[in-house]
Amino acid sequence: MLEISVQLVDEASKRPKPEDENNLVFGTVFSDHMFVMNYAEDKGWHDARIVPYQDIVLDPAAMILHYGQGIFEGLKAYRCADGRIHLFRPEKNCERFNRSAKRLCMPEVDPDFQIKALEQLLRIDADWIPRSKGTSLYIRPTMFATEPALGVRPAKEYIYYIITSPVGPYYPEGFNPVKIYVTDEFVRAVRGGVGEAKTVGNYAASLYAAEIAKKKGYTQVLWLDAVERKYVEEVGTMNIFFRVDDELITPPLTGSILPGVTRDSVIQLAKQWGVRVKERPITIDEVIQGIKDGRLQECFGTGTAAVISPVGELCYKDENYVINDGKVGEWSKRFYDEIVGIQYGEKDDPFGWIREVKV
Ligand code: COI
Repeated sequence: MLEISVQLVDEASKRPKPEDENNLVFGTVFSDHMFVMNYAEDKGWHDARIVPYQDIVLDPAAMILHYGQGIFEGLKAYRCADGRIHLFRPEKNCERFNRSAKRLCMPEVDPDFQIKALEQLLRIDADWIPRSKGTSLYIRPTMFATEPALGVRPAKEYIYYIITSPVGPYYPEGFNPVKIYVTDEFVRAVRGGVGEAKTVGNYAASLYAAEIAKKKGYTQVLWLDAVERKYVEEVGTMNIFFRVDDELITPPLTGSILPGVTRDSVIQLAKQWGVRVKERPITIDEVIQGIKDGRLQECFGTGTAAVISPVGELCYKDENYVINDGKVGEWSKRFYDEIVGIQYGEKDDPFGWIREVKV
């Protein structure tokens, strides 16, 4: 495994820590250090280092800027009440990172090394992991093409880095239900495309519809399948679940949906609890009909940033449909409590999801 060199920030250049941990705006403050390494076709990954958080200098022809070979991950470090530091299923993020890399013709990064680099960074910036309930240190591993070249082909040089950011809830609503806008005009991803990869372009593709939704007063967009605009896929930064007749339903992973770590955790918990759970195609018409006739009892999104996010209202074809009286559903709350409880070490971890970072 590569050696990691360390250059610590000098006292005078330390970044100011957020004054109020209870009012952190997602992804706006960054910790003192970052992990960085570079890749060249003839050298492989090299120059692994932890350095003070700093700018990255790019050639204007760097291929990320032209052809978008860029991928990332999102995970969190949690501070338990007794001070221990937890990661939640980090190996799942490393696996997905490498699947994204493969899809975008980028080099993979040894999962054990990703975790080693991350843990070393966390030990150095441990003070940046907030202590208040519901807060965490969001971790953003990123890789993009740095080679200066304009021919359309996979780059031969890349940078991989990890930055971290103390965060609170992703949505200003916190754990309160969000309002979601269903678009049948725009699509996010198509089967056979890059929808299941965590690539930067998927997020760029989502912005236009998200802005329209925001202007109409909705927090995020619910995407339908790109071909028939009939089947529910996912929400902006979350996978989506419905409770219908006491069965949990979520769209299957057919290539255009991001395979979420929280999504997988909810499915595993549901099975353990004896909840009937189905990964199956669900149409927007079935959802709307379910809301109308009361069979659809609740709806929630899942994601690392969003955790479990109850959905209180859907807007589809200019009609508003209120779910569960706009209140947090019983199952949403139970999944939220269980997952957050495991993450912060307050509940047992029967699945072995927690990895403790020893400081
Ligand atoms: C995450 O949940 O970590 C995500 O990647 C969503 C993000 C784009 C805010």
